[in-house]
Amino acid sequence: MKLSVIGCGYLGATHAACMSSLGFQVVGIDTDQGKVDLLSSGNLPFYEPGLDSLLASEIKTGRLTFTTDFSAAADADVHFICVGTPQSKEGLAADLTFVKSAIAAIAPFLKDGALVVGKSTVPVGTAQALREILTISAPHADLAWNPEFLREGFAIEDTLRPNRLVVGVVNDRAENILKEVYQPIIDLGTPWIRADLPTAELVKVAANSYLATKISFINAMAEVCEAAGGDVTVLAKAIGYDPRIGSRFLQAGIGFGGGCLPKDIRAFMARAEELGADQALEFLREIDAINLRARQRVIDVVRADLSEDLSQYKIAILGATFKPDSDDVRDSPALDIAAQLQAAGATIVVHDPKGIEPARKRFPHLDYAERVTDCVKGADAILHLTEWKEYRELDPAVIGQLVRSKFLIDGRNALDREKWRAAGWRVHALGRTD
Ligand code: UGA
Repeated sequence: MKLSVIGCGYLGATHAACMSSLGFQVVGIDTDQGKVDLLSSGNLPFYEPGLDSLLASEIKTGRLTFTTDFSAAADADVHFICVGTPQSKEGLAADLTFVKSAIAAIAPFLKDGALVVGKSTVPVGTAQALREILTISAPHADLAWNPEFLREGFAIEDTLRPNRLVVGVVNDRAENILKEVYQPIIDLGTPWIRADLPTAELVKVAANSYLATKISFINAMAEVCEAAGGDVTVLAKAIGYDPRIGSRFLQAGIGFGGGCLPKDIRAFMARAEELGADQALEFLREIDAINLRARQRVIDVVRADLSEDLSQYKIAILGATFKPDSDDVRDSPALDIAAQLQAAGATIVVHDPKGIEPARKRFPHLDYAERVTDCVKGADAILHLTEWKEYRELDPAVIGQLVRSKFLIDGRNALDREKWRAAGWRVHALGRTD
């Protein structure tokens, strides 16, 4: 069986390399020549632990190739659509331009019996509409939807050992083809869920909405803890022992960002409104609001502690990416806070182990430092906003000699507060009052 992967960004490049590692012939197609050249030479246009070496070794086998030419997929049996669905510029809805153009571009090259499999996150109803379009342009092909649940930082693990496989299909043939593709993963005992097309699309946005809700729930509790003199980390630990609640995704802090959770909950609300079900998702508006408030709370703490006018102050920002082990800065809470503090007059210097270049592209007016020691030099406050391991390993005594004032805000509740306090630091952690 030969596979094509259309769209070689984060999802597509990972999927292509992983499918090749299962032994398939895979051609990755992207309209961006620069990206194709980079991937063809075994290099990644982004950072993902372990993926660079997997990509390089799969290219060496000869099974994995990349091109801008859609005709190279003419002999493929299964075509995975992995293009992005960003938030549209006009509103909350998802922009489906890339999905539609991917389908239009591959349609003329689909051989009889080919299966197009959407992996991109789309508003419910998209798959059915695309299938109808395909019935006209490529009547001998079929379409299925197979949502992706991979997390950045764990992309290979989540692709090759996912906690479930969900396929939205209209007939047994499509399900059987997908079973053949995923057999090695099914053999690991991975649960297999067959659904109709709308349910498969909904599973993805429902999962991301639930995760977003869990994070905003604990951040709401953090606000209450701060008001009532409690400690959200102890609260999270205590409720997390209840297996019905579970302890994961209860890390209070500056909230969720990235290219998925924020735009997915917004697109879900927009789609529900179109469907006349907007009341059902009204709570997601609050989830979004709590999330954005978490960023604002950090700014409020800085202003309350230093001054309303921040023009005399230097603030060191540790972390630019939306989470550790990624160089993704899309909708990064850390950079949002950095930019807002700069707008309030502060001198900002940002450090990140992997995300400085992508951050510079989005926020060219911020200052960046390659080393933590340069970032914190002369700072009046340090804001720990992305929980990279290297920040947990910092020596507070050494850092204390470089700053102007030993004031630390832990926006991720990930640093050892006692260690910093023992070295003479004032530490403010979100949701913890003592
Ligand atoms: C998310 C989902 O977790 C994946 O299952 C999904 O496949 C993916 O979106 C997608 O739709 O493609 P990802 O965006 O990589 O994955 O990031 P997460 O690990 O979910 O983290 C999202 C944000 O929540 C980060 O900013 C993180 O710092 C924050 N977060 C996470 C918290 O603030 N607290 C937590 O307890 C957990």
